[in-house]
Amino acid sequence: MEFALIAAAHPAKITAGAVIIPMTSEGLTAAGKTLDAASEGRLSAILTNAGFEGKAGQTLPVFGLPGLESRQIIVVGAGEQKELNGRALQKAASAAYKALNSKIRTVVSYLGELRVVDRTPAQTLGDIVRGTREAAYRFEHYKSKKTPDGGLETMQLAVADDAELAAGQTAVAWGNAVASGQDLAKDLGNQPPNVCHPSYLAEQAKAMAKGERKLKVQVLDEADMEKLGMGAFLAVSRGSEQEGRLIVIEYHGGKKGDKPVVLVGKGITFDTGGISLKPGAGMDEMKYDMCGAASVLGVMKGLAESKLPINVVGVVAAAENMPAGNAARPGDIVTTMSGQTVEILNTDAEGRLVLCDALTYVQRFDPAVVIDIATLTGACVVALGKVVSGLFTPNDELAGALVAAGLAGNDRTWRMPVLPDYQELLDSPFADMANISSGGPHGGAITAACFLARFTKEYTWAHLDIAGVAWNSGAQKGSTGRPVPLLMQYLHNCVAG
Ligand code: BES
Ligand code: MN
Ligand code: ZN
Repeated sequence: MEFALIAAAHPAKITAGAVIIPMTSEGLTAAGKTLDAASEGRLSAILTNAGFEGKAGQTLPVFGLPGLESRQIIVVGAGEQKELNGRALQKAASAAYKALNSKIRTVVSYLGELRVVDRTPAQTLGDIVRGTREAAYRFEHYKSKKTPDGGLETMQLAVADDAELAAGQTAVAWGNAVASGQDLAKDLGNQPPNVCHPSYLAEQAKAMAKGERKLKVQVLDEADMEKLGMGAFLAVSRGSEQEGRLIVIEYHGGKKGDKPVVLVGKGITFDTGGISLKPGAGMDEMKYDMCGAASVLGVMKGLAESKLPINVVGVVAAAENMPAGNAARPGDIVTTMSGQTVEILNTDAEGRLVLCDALTYVQRFDPAVVIDIATLTGACVVALGKVVSGLFTPNDELAGALVAAGLAGNDRTWRMPVLPDYQELLDSPFADMANISSGGPHGGAITAACFLARFTKEYTWAHLDIAGVAWNSGAQKGSTGRPVPLLMQYLHNCVAG
């Protein structure tokens, strides 16, 4: 599906298969009013008769209005004007797409007439692109019978006049880049764990870099990691038939010598818990334990598409956590790449073990900032649910930047503490630290972050716990592609200053 812009188009003269117009709880916008006038009040009469109030998520298809060229109008509720933010607009765009008849080839959308907090008129177009693509996303790779493709070829986004076109194009391109990155993250997350192994992720990274001059990929295997002394990573990977990989993707968009932002993703392609085996119910969802890695790959793709002028290094710590005769056991002590020793008291706290070595490894890039992204703890889901990701950093400035990026990017995060007071909970009688807290589940997301903090002293660091936001369960099961939008927005803001 393509997005195009159309300036100063009269809504009654549109010949496309359908015209999408918004309505807030306060009423129709300009396009709707024009159509109402052209139809001599029929549109508003229909809305009243249907009890359509412009509530968020509501849609109403209206056929054969007199005085119009197009056969179909889709009225989309946008909710209350004062609550209309970027996320609400995105949802309205999703609802509009879902209301489209699959036979329609072209559509003109006036959703850009909505005024949204903290968005210029042109910027709203980025949200519309993202919301539309969110609704259009499918993962049917393994279905014999695929849903017939929505026939929509072009969505034209109406802007007020020619002066809006340039900024509008920029916003559409950015929205597309974010959505492409998010779609890749979704695809990787949704892949089954018998396909999506560590080596599969490495191959995907290589395939992405092929033909992209700005991307460079290097893959370390277990022998390489052995030489680097990554004892914690290897303790996790050991029990699997599938070899672990450390995947390094460099994106050179900025000036030579500009310090990179480094993104480190947890890439556990399946988390059984290891010898500390997880209970069986819902264990299939632990294929999503590589969603941090997927978001890193998604961002690299989004960067290549948007050509953002910045240097970014993406590192994926990919391993499978399996129980086996040679798997790590509770009580094992391993030496990390940093030289610090860890007593593994629970093999299900494996994310921090692969991450700690990756976080030591990335020192070599002399990073401006390091952000790790991980489906790290069930405790984070208990604390924050599935709405916001958990943000952990001792650095107030970085915390502020990430919270702001989450808001602006419609992918919110919420700060949690990483105070030194929690550190003693990680004491071990036999090693420098244990991999789980002696406090049990209390503050589990925080003590996990505190573990990582011991490996990130050499640079400015933040940790995103995405255990709650990375995928949906139940009937809507599927990867969300979060936090690609948050990270893309953060990087965008780094460039914009
Ligand atoms: N991948 C899980 C965290 C997780 C669990 C994410 C459920 C989303 C839903 C992680 O490796 C894990 O098992 N963490 C343990 C840590 C505990 C053993 C200290 C957890 O959260 O129970
Ligand atoms: Mn685990
Ligand atoms: Zn895990």
